[in-house]
Amino acid sequence: MYFFDPDYLERARLRDGTECLVRLIRPEDKELLHRGFLRLSPESRYRRFFTVKNDLTADELRYLTEVDGVRHFALGAVSLDGDDGLGVARFIQLAGEPGVAEAAIAVADEHQGKGLGSLLFQRLVAAAAERGVARFRCEVLGTNHGMAELVRSLAPDARVHVSSGVVSIEFDVPPLAPEHPADEPPRESGLYRFFGMVAQGAVEWAQAWQRAGLRFLGEDVSEDRGSWDGTSRDEEE
Ligand SMILES: CC(C)(COP(=O)(O)OP(=O)(O)OC[C@H]1O[C@@H](n2cnc3c(N)ncnc32)[C@H](O)[C@@H]1OP(=O)(O)O)[C@@H](O)C(=O)NCCC(=O)NCCS
Repeated sequence: MYFFDPDYLERARLRDGTECLVRLIRPEDKELLHRGFLRLSPESRYRRFFTVKNDLTADELRYLTEVDGVRHFALGAVSLDGDDGLGVARFIQLAGEPGVAEAAIAVADEHQGKGLGSLLFQRLVAAAAERGVARFRCEVLGTNHGMAELVRSLAPDARVHVSSGVVSIEFDVPPLAPEHPADEPPRESGLYRFFGMVAQGAVEWAQAWQRAGLRFLGEDVSEDRGSWDGTSRDEEE
């Protein structure tokens, strides 16, 4: 039994007083997700998807909403009347790498900077822990060691791997209870510090969904990024 199951429903108040409901993503959310995607600014879309993306296909909407809740887990914030999507967070556990997942979060432009991303982050982390995920792997644009050093200075516990123009970083998932007070995020955690850098636009974190999605859709995304030993600060260029 999971705390974050289909019955999970949390009412939240953002910093500007906006109220919303946080719940798991359902197959019926395709239209809501599609509208939310179309409202994202080109910049947010680029930062979320790592590419100029104008629309989502039917297959992509299916992939994003028909999730099993364990291997692929997704939650979202919707308006109280259920008509608008405010933000989505998801993780996808990596095949053949037990305990490791790639994560992605997007908040509608008009609701950014009000604490929603932080709330979704915290609930995603707690749901990941429930499902045995110990580490989140994030990939950022940046081919150089400067980026790796920046991440390490902010998050000494991060494992960084530089290869083929992509910096992969693994962070321990901080211990958070499902009902942890939303206004007390784990600011000491490397993963949360990294998330703050993304929110400030200092780092581009994306691609997880895209690669996992393309893999799911049967496209070849197997370009070699070099080996990843998962424990050392291996670097190659
Ligand atoms: C990244 C993103 C999800 C953050 O969501 P958000 O709702 O704006 O974030 P929050 O308001 O909860 O802020 C999170 C933290 O970043 C800080 N932050 C947010 N915007 C900031 C800014 N412009 N300058 C400085 N700090 C900022 C907040 O202070 C907060 O830290 P704190 O809890 O220690 O105070 C959102 O900006 C987004 O959707 N971006 C586009 C898509 C993307 O880049 N996704 C990530 C890759 S998958």
